[in-house]
Amino acid sequence: MKAVAINGSHRKGQNTAVMLQTVLDELKAGGVETELVELSDYNIKPCLSCNKCLRRPQCSITDDDMSLLADKLLKADAIILGSPVYWANVTGLMKNFMDRTRWLHMTKNFLAGKVGAAVTHAGLRNGGQEVCLQIMEHFLRAQGLYVVDDRDPEKGILTSGAMGTLFDRFDGNNISWKRGVQEDHLAIASCRQLGKNMLQLMKKLA
Ligand SMILES: Cc1cc2nc3c(=O)[nH]c(=O)nc-3n(C[C@H](O)[C@H](O)[C@H](O)COP(=O)(O)O)c2cc1C
Repeated sequence: MKAVAINGSHRKGQNTAVMLQTVLDELKAGGVETELVELSDYNIKPCLSCNKCLRRPQCSITDDDMSLLADKLLKADAIILGSPVYWANVTGLMKNFMDRTRWLHMTKNFLAGKVGAAVTHAGLRNGGQEVCLQIMEHFLRAQGLYVVDDRDPEKGILTSGAMGTLFDRFDGNNISWKRGVQEDHLAIASCRQLGKNMLQLMKKLA
């Protein structure tokens, strides 16, 4: 079994990448082949809205890296999307990527039946993480994936999604910040649980 994680951060290897890697590590421990894709490494042109994918399952743009990325999605049994919050939304990179997968969904859902999940990270405590997560989960559902959450089946709810923040505490006057998501123990625990839940469903579906 294979899992691919797609990082929409404009910064490689930072908070969102750490969250995605934490999910992948759980899957790897369960014997899944994993890959972390940094979208910032790839040339993804914006969708032209030519609407040709309404009639045939292919994109009219062929002179960039998107076909390579689509191939990774098609070959994976599980897909995890990760985006930092930019303006209470996904990043431009992630949105470009999503738009360019439209052909995988218009004539038929080519990704249907795979396992999906999403993670997000933001600076502020309530910085738009929930909206950002919902945007990615909506995308995955629309593409026909089974979307997994981070609920612990034994202990119940841990958080309402794999969402991290740099906010640490406010003492009434000053705010202090975490140095990175590694210090956000709840977010890391949530990513681990997400990985465990994905693995369980992948095994059931295999
Ligand atoms: C253009 C831009 C917009 C941002 N908008 C928000 C926002 O709406 N809310 C928020 O809490 N943080 C916002 N941030 C902060 C990022 O979400 C935060 O730095 C995050 O940790 C970056 O993830 P990364 O380390 O994976 O790149 C924004 C950052 C940038 C560059």
